[in-house]
Amino acid sequence: MDGIIGSSPAMQSVYAITRRVAPSNASVLLLGETGTGKELIAGAIHALSSRASGPFVKVNCGALSESLLESELFGHVRGAFTSAVANRTGRFEAAHSGTIFLDEINSTSQILQVKLLRVLQERELERVGDGGTIAVDTRVIAASNRDLTKEVQEERFREDLYWRLNVVPIQLPPLRKRPEDIPELIVHFLNVYSAANNRDVVHVHEETIEAMQRYHWPGNVRELQNYVERAVVMAEGDEFTPELLPDDVRYGAPSSSTVSVRGVDLETLVREVVEQGVRAAENEKADIHSFVVNRVEKELIAQVLANCNHVQTKTAAKLGINRNTLHKKLKDYDLEATESDE
Ligand SMILES: Nc1ncnc2c1ncn2[C@@H]1O[C@H](COP(=O)(O)OP(=O)(O)O)[C@@H](O)[C@H]1O
Ligand SMILES: [Mg+2]
Repeated sequence: MDGIIGSSPAMQSVYAITRRVAPSNASVLLLGETGTGKELIAGAIHALSSRASGPFVKVNCGALSESLLESELFGHVRGAFTSAVANRTGRFEAAHSGTIFLDEINSTSQILQVKLLRVLQERELERVGDGGTIAVDTRVIAASNRDLTKEVQEERFREDLYWRLNVVPIQLPPLRKRPEDIPELIVHFLNVYSAANNRDVVHVHEETIEAMQRYHWPGNVRELQNYVERAVVMAEGDEFTPELLPDDVRYGAPSSSTVSVRGVDLETLVREVVEQGVRAAENEKADIHSFVVNRVEKELIAQVLANCNHVQTKTAAKLGINRNTLHKKLKDYDLEATESDE
């Protein structure tokens, strides 16, 4: 996995699937937020396959209009439309004996999805404006930064194409879920950009790492890469100090969605807890709402109570609820507190 950094368990399992699937001819679907390394993994699959000596062709399906994308992918014959002044080879043909990487596959139109399905099923295509068919020997790797199952549910993405592409899915984890990879990534990009800019920024402050591990990284590795590059360019000496980070990273953005606990943002954490709670409630055949909400509330009260040495007024104030309400909840949840605290 040349140039792919990160040894967290989540990335280890990505590498394992990548190695396993690479030598086959199977279609691969890469899923994950923007900047998580989908293109990098697509390149690795190609490089580790028997097609490595063939071409690796990338097409960003989100960047072109429907008609342009169609002739980009399949080619066209002269006169097929007004601006088609000559025959043009499509990218599928250009990728013959190699691999084609269809990025942002979720943004293709329904009509194009039908044509892609045909290529995958029949292994042949038609150039635009041409009646003849051309055999296709190209491995397909597709990527989406949207939840494709949801796109299918909402009928924006064809289910048959989804199953054709999704022979082997690989889910790239967001950076905020693997803060342990951050120090390695910093060192890697410091080396890359120090070399590129004739600098030698080698000392990373502990505070810099801590701030970066707290941050929620909506742009994932691409965003981190950008900040490290900026730091190398702006650094006065050989140190990566926290002052070189954008304020959002250094101080943490104020919105609730960016509050993070050990590098995991609060919303993600809550979502996971609730998902597990819902599953547990379903197993127990219990009323989901009270099952999950009561457990979360009991745990919250128990923790704040302990922090307040079991003093009720203090606990109520800290929770921001009325003392009588707290009193009732303590009884409901069978929690111990000192009655009077003064
Ligand atoms: N694990 C990683 N190790 C090193 N660089 C990475 C890693 N993941 C992403 N990058 C870098 O971040 C940028 C975005 O990666 P890319 O593969 O284009 O992401 P995506 O296709 O998911 O948007 C690229 O410059 C890539 O080299
Ligand atoms: Mg990309």
